[in-house]
Amino acid sequence: MIHPIVAYGSPVLKEKAAKIETLGTELKALVADMFETMYNADGCGLAAPQIGKSIRLFVIDAEMLDEEKYKGCKMAFINAEKIEETGVAWSCDEGCLSIPGLREEVKRPENITLNYQDEDGVEHTRSFEGMMARVIQHEYDHIEGKLFTDHLSPLKKRLIQGKLNDIIRGKAKFSYPMRFVQGGRK
Ligand code: NI
Repeated sequence: MIHPIVAYGSPVLKEKAAKIETLGTELKALVADMFETMYNADGCGLAAPQIGKSIRLFVIDAEMLDEEKYKGCKMAFINAEKIEETGVAWSCDEGCLSIPGLREEVKRPENITLNYQDEDGVEHTRSFEGMMARVIQHEYDHIEGKLFTDHLSPLKKRLIQGKLNDIIRGKAKFSYPMRFVQGGRK
């Protein structure tokens, strides 16, 4: 089932998401829905708060970025907790399905190591680098109640404030179902 994606300005995107206590069929169905919602929007990552659920779950598929390089990099992260970020910070153009039509350069460290569970509840500790790390850092931010706009300088943020206000009002171009703070469901 495709869920509408919650747009910038919604309080759920600012909340620190809660730990998932029960892993089972229901959660697996939700993970399947998240992948379906993400692919429908042509995204490479989606976090549960973006479909209005403040729980520590996100999905990624780096194959959406580079089919050859990231073949099979389709993963669900449950109860992820960051252990460390290392390496030199680098800038990369980022977008977000909750912030349609806006892309900005964001600086992030090269690598991230996190603890998480997979869909079967198995615990993992893994490090990621390059674009995989980038996508995971962006999605991890979502379950911590952060958006890529929170990484921008105050000046940059001021420059795009008008566009952000438009998104709050539902004045945005998008090609997938969205739910705005004002202007109802589209
Ligand atoms: Ni995002």
